[in-house]
Amino acid sequence: MEEKKENKSQAIIEVINFGPLKITGNFLLKDLQRDKENSPGEVWLCRCGKSGNKPYCDESHKK
Ligand code: FES
Repeated sequence: MEEKKENKSQAIIEVINFGPLKITGNFLLKDLQRDKENSPGEVWLCRCGKSGNKPYCDESHKK
């Protein structure tokens, strides 16, 4: 039971080939406005620098 609790509190960061970082799980996100969103469940963060909505991916990396 304790092991299940531990796994639930972890975030998984996945590097998408030629794309964003996909983060899922239980985490606290502080964006550029220092707004906090507790455990949004899933975010896609830009790592190409082309997004018009940083730090989030807006799929500009596909252009
Ligand atoms: S990674 Fe998607 S816009 Fe940068």
